[in-house]
Amino acid sequence: EGSSSSSVIFKRKPIIIIVVGMAGSGKTTFLQRLVSHTQSSNIRGYVINLDPAVINLPYGANIDIRDTVHYKEVMKEYNLGPNGGILTSLNLFSTRFNEVVSLIERRADQLDYVLVDTPGQIEIFTWSASGAIITEAFASTFPTIITYVVDTPRSSNPVTFMSNMLYACSILYKMRLPLVLAFNKVDVVKHEFALEWMEDFEAFQTALDSDTSYTSTLTRSLSLVLDEFYKNLRSVGVSAVSGVGMDAFFNAIRDSSEDYMKNY
Ligand code: GTP
Repeated sequence: EGSSSSSVIFKRKPIIIIVVGMAGSGKTTFLQRLVSHTQSSNIRGYVINLDPAVINLPYGANIDIRDTVHYKEVMKEYNLGPNGGILTSLNLFSTRFNEVVSLIERRADQLDYVLVDTPGQIEIFTWSASGAIITEAFASTFPTIITYVVDTPRSSNPVTFMSNMLYACSILYKMRLPLVLAFNKVDVVKHEFALEWMEDFEAFQTALDSDTSYTSTLTRSLSLVLDEFYKNLRSVGVSAVSGVGMDAFFNAIRDSSEDYMKNY
Protein backbone atom coordinates (compact mmCIF):
# COMPACT_ATOMS: atom_id res chain seq x y z
CA GLU A 1 0.00 0.00 0.00
CA GLY A 2 2.53 2.60 1.18
CA SER A 3 5.11 1.50 -1.34
CA SER A 4 3.80 2.53 -4.72
CA SER A 5 5.87 1.63 -7.77
CA SER A 6 6.96 5.26 -8.08
CA SER A 7 8.49 5.30 -4.61
CA VAL A 8 10.44 2.16 -5.51
CA ILE A 9 11.89 3.91 -8.56
CA PHE A 10 12.57 6.96 -6.43
CA LYS A 11 14.57 4.90 -3.93
CA ARG A 12 16.71 3.38 -6.64
CA LYS A 13 17.67 6.55 -8.38
CA PRO A 14 19.86 9.37 -7.20
CA ILE A 15 18.13 12.70 -6.75
CA ILE A 16 19.70 15.45 -8.85
CA ILE A 17 20.16 18.75 -7.00
CA ILE A 18 20.93 21.64 -9.37
CA VAL A 19 22.23 24.59 -7.36
CA VAL A 20 21.70 28.09 -8.77
CA GLY A 21 22.06 31.48 -7.12
CA MET A 22 22.94 35.10 -7.72
CA ALA A 23 26.64 35.97 -7.63
CA GLY A 24 27.62 36.44 -4.00
CA SER A 25 24.72 34.41 -2.60
CA GLY A 26 27.23 31.84 -1.38
CA LYS A 27 26.47 29.13 -3.92
CA THR A 28 30.01 27.77 -3.99
CA THR A 29 30.39 27.79 -0.20
CA PHE A 30 26.98 26.12 0.08
CA LEU A 31 28.01 23.35 -2.32
CA GLN A 32 31.20 22.86 -0.40
CA ARG A 33 29.09 22.47 2.75
CA LEU A 34 26.74 20.00 1.03
CA VAL A 35 29.70 17.93 -0.12
CA SER A 36 31.25 17.79 3.35
CA HIS A 37 27.85 17.03 4.91
CA THR A 38 27.27 14.08 2.58
CA GLN A 39 30.76 12.77 3.28
CA SER A 40 30.35 12.95 7.06
CA SER A 41 26.79 11.53 7.09
CA ASN A 42 27.37 8.48 4.90
CA ILE A 43 25.20 9.95 2.17
CA ARG A 44 26.43 8.75 -1.20
CA GLY A 45 26.95 11.87 -3.26
CA TYR A 46 28.36 12.62 -6.69
CA VAL A 47 29.48 16.09 -7.69
CA ILE A 48 29.30 17.73 -11.10
CA ASN A 49 30.87 21.10 -11.84
CA LEU A 50 29.33 22.96 -14.78
CA ASP A 51 31.23 26.22 -14.27
CA PRO A 52 33.97 26.29 -16.93
CA ALA A 53 35.51 29.51 -15.62
CA VAL A 54 36.00 28.65 -11.96
CA ILE A 55 39.69 28.70 -11.05
CA ASN A 56 39.76 26.95 -7.69
CA LEU A 57 36.97 24.59 -6.71
CA PRO A 58 36.92 24.20 -2.92
CA TYR A 59 35.62 20.62 -3.26
CA GLY A 60 36.42 17.63 -5.44
CA ALA A 61 34.15 17.15 -8.47
CA ASN A 62 33.53 13.69 -9.94
CA ILE A 63 32.68 15.23 -13.30
CA ASP A 64 34.16 18.60 -14.19
CA ILE A 65 33.33 20.57 -17.34
CA ARG A 66 36.90 21.93 -17.19
CA ASP A 67 38.28 18.47 -18.02
CA THR A 68 36.50 18.52 -21.38
CA VAL A 69 36.16 22.18 -22.37
CA HIS A 70 38.91 24.75 -22.02
CA TYR A 71 37.19 28.04 -21.42
CA LYS A 72 40.18 30.29 -22.22
CA GLU A 73 40.75 28.50 -25.52
CA VAL A 74 37.05 28.73 -26.39
CA MET A 75 37.24 32.50 -25.81
CA LYS A 76 40.25 32.80 -28.13
CA GLU A 77 39.00 30.42 -30.80
CA TYR A 78 35.58 32.05 -31.12
CA ASN A 79 36.77 35.56 -30.26
CA LEU A 80 34.41 35.92 -27.29
CA GLY A 81 34.27 37.87 -24.06
CA PRO A 82 34.04 36.17 -20.67
CA ASN A 83 30.28 35.55 -20.67
CA GLY A 84 30.19 34.44 -24.30
CA GLY A 85 33.08 32.11 -23.48
CA ILE A 86 31.20 30.54 -20.56
CA LEU A 87 28.02 30.20 -22.62
CA THR A 88 29.82 28.62 -25.59
CA SER A 89 31.72 26.24 -23.29
CA LEU A 90 28.42 25.15 -21.76
CA ASN A 91 26.94 24.70 -25.26
CA LEU A 92 29.87 22.51 -26.29
CA PHE A 93 29.55 20.44 -23.13
CA SER A 94 25.77 20.06 -23.45
CA THR A 95 26.12 18.35 -26.85
CA ARG A 96 27.65 15.40 -25.01
CA PHE A 97 25.55 15.54 -21.91
CA ASN A 98 23.83 12.22 -22.63
CA GLU A 99 27.18 10.61 -21.78
CA VAL A 100 27.07 12.22 -18.34
CA VAL A 101 23.53 10.96 -17.78
CA SER A 102 24.49 7.41 -18.88
CA LEU A 103 27.43 7.47 -16.53
CA ILE A 104 25.15 8.37 -13.61
CA GLU A 105 22.63 5.74 -14.71
CA ARG A 106 25.32 3.07 -14.55
CA ARG A 107 26.10 4.12 -10.98
CA ALA A 108 22.52 4.75 -9.95
CA ASP A 109 22.48 1.96 -7.34
CA GLN A 110 25.47 3.43 -5.56
CA LEU A 111 24.30 7.03 -5.40
CA ASP A 112 21.82 8.96 -3.25
CA TYR A 113 22.38 12.49 -4.59
CA VAL A 114 24.08 14.22 -7.48
CA LEU A 115 25.08 17.78 -6.60
CA VAL A 116 25.37 20.08 -9.60
CA ASP A 117 27.20 23.42 -9.49
CA THR A 118 26.30 25.94 -12.21
CA PRO A 119 28.14 29.00 -13.60
CA GLY A 120 28.41 31.97 -11.25
CA GLN A 121 26.48 34.18 -13.71
CA ILE A 122 23.09 32.63 -13.02
CA GLU A 123 21.40 33.61 -16.28
CA ILE A 124 24.00 31.73 -18.33
CA PHE A 125 22.46 28.56 -16.97
CA THR A 126 18.84 29.54 -16.36
CA TRP A 127 18.24 31.37 -19.66
CA SER A 128 20.34 29.42 -22.17
CA ALA A 129 19.49 26.59 -24.53
CA SER A 130 22.27 24.47 -23.05
CA GLY A 131 21.00 25.04 -19.49
CA ALA A 132 17.61 23.78 -20.68
CA ILE A 133 19.17 20.80 -22.50
CA ILE A 134 21.16 19.80 -19.43
CA THR A 135 18.21 20.24 -17.07
CA GLU A 136 15.88 18.25 -19.32
CA ALA A 137 18.44 15.47 -19.78
CA PHE A 138 18.57 15.08 -16.00
CA ALA A 139 14.85 15.49 -15.43
CA SER A 140 13.83 12.92 -18.03
CA THR A 141 15.90 10.29 -16.22
CA PHE A 142 16.04 11.19 -12.50
CA PRO A 143 14.04 13.18 -9.97
CA THR A 144 15.56 16.64 -10.38
CA ILE A 145 15.24 19.52 -7.94
CA ILE A 146 16.37 23.12 -8.37
CA THR A 147 17.88 24.79 -5.32
CA TYR A 148 17.91 28.58 -5.43
CA VAL A 149 20.39 30.02 -2.95
CA VAL A 150 19.22 33.32 -1.44
CA ASP A 151 21.51 35.85 0.23
CA THR A 152 19.31 36.34 3.31
CA PRO A 153 21.03 39.43 4.79
CA ARG A 154 20.79 41.15 1.40
CA SER A 155 17.08 40.31 1.09
CA SER A 156 15.88 41.84 4.34
CA ASN A 157 14.55 44.91 2.54
CA PRO A 158 11.01 44.09 1.28
CA VAL A 159 11.55 45.51 -2.23
CA THR A 160 14.84 43.61 -2.66
CA PHE A 161 13.15 40.53 -1.26
CA MET A 162 10.38 40.88 -3.79
CA SER A 163 12.74 41.22 -6.76
CA ASN A 164 14.72 38.22 -5.60
CA MET A 165 11.54 36.13 -5.27
CA LEU A 166 10.33 37.28 -8.71
CA TYR A 167 13.61 36.05 -10.12
CA ALA A 168 13.19 32.70 -8.36
CA CYS A 169 9.62 32.59 -9.66
CA SER A 170 10.81 33.10 -13.24
CA ILE A 171 13.24 30.19 -12.78
CA LEU A 172 10.44 27.98 -11.51
CA TYR A 173 8.30 28.68 -14.55
CA LYS A 174 11.21 28.38 -16.96
CA MET A 175 12.48 25.09 -15.58
CA ARG A 176 9.19 23.55 -14.45
CA LEU A 177 10.86 21.54 -11.71
CA PRO A 178 10.36 21.50 -7.93
CA LEU A 179 12.17 24.38 -6.27
CA VAL A 180 13.79 24.61 -2.85
CA LEU A 181 14.76 28.06 -1.58
CA ALA A 182 17.90 27.87 0.55
CA PHE A 183 17.97 31.04 2.65
CA ASN A 184 21.73 31.18 3.18
CA LYS A 185 23.84 33.08 5.74
CA VAL A 186 21.37 32.62 8.63
CA ASP A 187 24.41 32.89 10.90
CA VAL A 188 24.29 36.62 10.02
CA VAL A 189 20.54 37.27 9.66
CA LYS A 190 17.87 34.71 10.55
CA HIS A 191 15.37 33.93 7.80
CA GLU A 192 12.22 34.13 9.99
CA PHE A 193 11.27 37.49 8.47
CA ALA A 194 11.22 35.83 5.04
CA LEU A 195 9.03 32.96 6.26
CA GLU A 196 6.65 35.48 7.80
CA TRP A 197 6.44 37.48 4.57
CA MET A 198 5.84 34.31 2.59
CA GLU A 199 3.14 33.01 4.91
CA ASP A 200 1.36 36.23 5.76
CA PHE A 201 0.42 38.43 2.82
CA GLU A 202 -0.71 41.29 5.09
CA ALA A 203 2.59 41.30 6.99
CA PHE A 204 4.46 41.64 3.70
CA GLN A 205 2.12 44.45 2.56
CA THR A 206 2.78 46.32 5.79
CA ALA A 207 6.53 45.95 5.30
CA LEU A 208 6.24 47.12 1.68
CA ASP A 209 4.03 50.11 2.56
CA SER A 210 6.51 51.34 5.12
CA ASP A 211 9.35 50.97 2.64
CA THR A 212 8.04 52.29 -0.62
CA SER A 213 5.87 55.22 -1.49
CA TYR A 214 5.74 54.60 -5.24
CA THR A 215 4.38 51.90 -7.60
CA SER A 216 2.22 50.65 -4.77
CA THR A 217 -0.37 49.14 -7.11
CA LEU A 218 2.30 47.27 -9.00
CA THR A 219 4.05 46.00 -5.89
CA ARG A 220 0.70 44.90 -4.49
CA SER A 221 -0.18 42.95 -7.64
CA LEU A 222 3.28 41.42 -7.82
CA SER A 223 3.09 40.26 -4.25
CA LEU A 224 -0.22 38.56 -5.08
CA VAL A 225 1.58 36.67 -7.84
CA LEU A 226 4.28 35.70 -5.37
CA ASP A 227 1.69 34.46 -2.89
CA GLU A 228 0.71 31.84 -5.46
CA PHE A 229 4.37 31.07 -6.20
CA TYR A 230 5.13 30.40 -2.51
CA LYS A 231 2.56 27.61 -2.43
CA ASN A 232 4.63 25.71 -4.97
CA LEU A 233 7.97 25.57 -3.21
CA ARG A 234 9.78 24.65 -0.01
CA SER A 235 12.11 26.92 1.95
CA VAL A 236 14.81 26.26 4.50
CA GLY A 237 17.28 28.44 6.38
CA VAL A 238 20.90 27.37 6.07
CA SER A 239 24.38 28.61 6.76
CA ALA A 240 27.05 27.42 4.40
CA VAL A 241 29.61 28.73 6.88
CA SER A 242 28.31 27.25 10.16
CA GLY A 243 26.62 24.18 8.66
CA VAL A 244 23.24 24.91 10.25
CA GLY A 245 20.15 23.62 8.40
CA MET A 246 21.66 20.72 6.43
CA ASP A 247 19.19 18.10 7.70
CA ALA A 248 16.26 20.42 6.99
CA PHE A 249 17.66 21.01 3.53
CA PHE A 250 17.90 17.30 2.68
CA ASN A 251 14.40 16.72 4.10
CA ALA A 252 13.06 19.44 1.79
CA ILE A 253 14.88 17.80 -1.13
CA ARG A 254 13.38 14.38 -0.32
CA ASP A 255 9.88 15.82 0.01
CA SER A 256 10.31 17.71 -3.26
CA SER A 257 11.47 14.56 -5.03
CA GLU A 258 8.31 12.81 -3.88
CA ASP A 259 6.31 15.68 -5.42
CA TYR A 260 8.38 15.19 -8.51
CA MET A 261 7.50 11.51 -8.76
CA LYS A 262 3.81 12.37 -8.40
CA ASN A 263 3.55 15.41 -10.64
CA TYR A 264 6.27 15.55 -13.27
P1 GTP B 1 30.08 31.83 -7.22
O1 GTP B 1 29.11 32.74 -7.92
O2 GTP B 1 30.03 30.42 -7.70
O3 GTP B 1 31.47 32.38 -7.20
O4 GTP B 1 29.63 31.72 -5.70
P2 GTP B 1 29.01 32.88 -4.91
O5 GTP B 1 29.62 34.16 -5.31
O6 GTP B 1 27.54 32.77 -4.97
O7 GTP B 1 29.35 32.67 -3.42
P3 GTP B 1 30.63 32.38 -2.54
O8 GTP B 1 30.52 30.99 -2.07
O9 GTP B 1 31.87 32.81 -3.22
O10 GTP B 1 30.33 33.32 -1.30
C1 GTP B 1 30.24 34.72 -1.39
C2 GTP B 1 30.61 35.32 -0.04
O11 GTP B 1 29.62 34.99 0.95
C3 GTP B 1 31.93 34.78 0.50
O12 GTP B 1 32.60 35.85 1.13
C4 GTP B 1 31.50 33.73 1.51
O13 GTP B 1 32.43 33.56 2.55
C5 GTP B 1 30.23 34.34 2.05
N1 GTP B 1 29.30 33.31 2.55
C6 GTP B 1 28.83 32.23 1.90
N2 GTP B 1 28.00 31.52 2.66
C7 GTP B 1 27.93 32.16 3.85
C8 GTP B 1 27.23 31.91 5.07
O14 GTP B 1 26.47 30.95 5.25
N3 GTP B 1 27.42 32.81 6.08
C9 GTP B 1 28.24 33.89 5.95
N4 GTP B 1 28.35 34.70 6.99
N5 GTP B 1 28.90 34.15 4.81
C10 GTP B 1 28.76 33.30 3.79
